[in-house]
Order: sequence, then C-alpha cells, then structure tokens
Amino acid sequence: MATPRTQTPPKLRASALPTAKDTAGEALTKGDRRYKTLEMTLKRNQYSQDALIEVLHKAQETFGYLDEDVLTYIARGLKLPLSRVYGVATFYHLFSLKPAGAHTCIVCLGTACYVKGSGKILEALEQELSITVGNTSADGQVSLMAARCVGACGIAPVAVFDGTVAGKVEPAAALSRIQEWEAED
Ligand code: FES
Repeated sequence: MATPRTQTPPKLRASALPTAKDTAGEALTKGDRRYKTLEMTLKRNQYSQDALIEVLHKAQETFGYLDEDVLTYIARGLKLPLSRVYGVATFYHLFSLKPAGAHTCIVCLGTACYVKGSGKILEALEQELSITVGNTSADGQVSLMAARCVGACGIAPVAVFDGTVAGKVEPAAALSRIQEWEAED
C-alpha cells in the first residue's frame, strides 16, 4: 500500500508540462520496449482511471523512476490531465520522479534477467559505488536503481544506462561503464 506524503501535491505551472512534441510515443517508436510493458499494463487495466496508482507502480518498477515522458504517456493512456498524474506521483513517497545522480543505471531484476545473473551485476555495482540499490553515489555521479522486467527478456540480463537499454550485460562491462561515469568531472 502506498504511503501518502505529508504535504499536499504541488500545483504545476503550465510551462512545466511537456508539449505534444515531447511525447513518450516518440520513445516508443524508437523501440524502447519498456513502453510496451507500460502499454500492456494500461491495457490489462482497461485504461481505467481508477488504475492510476497501479499503473504508476508498474511504471516505477519498469523504469526505475517516473520522468516526464512516462507520466505524459500514462496521462494520455488514462485520459487524465497530466497535472493529476503528477499530483498523485508526487503525493506518495513510493514514487520517485527522478534519480538524484548525474547518471542512472537501472539493473533489471525480473525473472529472466535474474536467472541470467543480473543479481551479480547489481552486486558488483553496489560494491564499486559503495551504495545499495535505490541510492546515489557520494559524489552524486551515479544513481543505482532496479526494475522488474523492462520488456527485453530476450536479451537478458539487461541494464539501462542513462535510458539506453543494454542486453547480455556482463558484470565487468557494467562496471567499466560505471567507472567511465565516475571518472567524469
Ligand atoms: S526480466 Fe529483465 S527484461 Fe524481462
């Protein structure tokens, strides 16, 4: 059960809202399979507005956090005003709207990825960054998140580096990607 934040949801300025051009549909056409997972969740819930929290929950599991594109996609799918979707997403501690770090690595811990060793990837990264999943490295460079199935099981194990899905990831390859980020100023 989601826990409400103590504050009421902030009001959004119209200028903060994505325009029609910033659609998540663009990402979908670019082949981001995570949107297919999200679309399936919407469909399973028959695009019911009452399913908003459940859909947000699934989206957070899939993307690691809820950015503007994802919230816009959900708002359109459920035919809800974007301000309402933002309002609910910001109201509950359960949801995070953005990673705190300059870069984000999301490791998929869904079944297909887990059996192919994604747990080991996560372990290696946690050790390298000296943090546990869900946190950001002390230098603010890397946020490490987990997701449950990003819709790319065929190329498991999967990790998402700054929004780009990578398949058949070895712990060593994930480590060197992270080390490149750490070396940045
Ligand atoms: S379980 Fe990782 S992509 Fe499906």
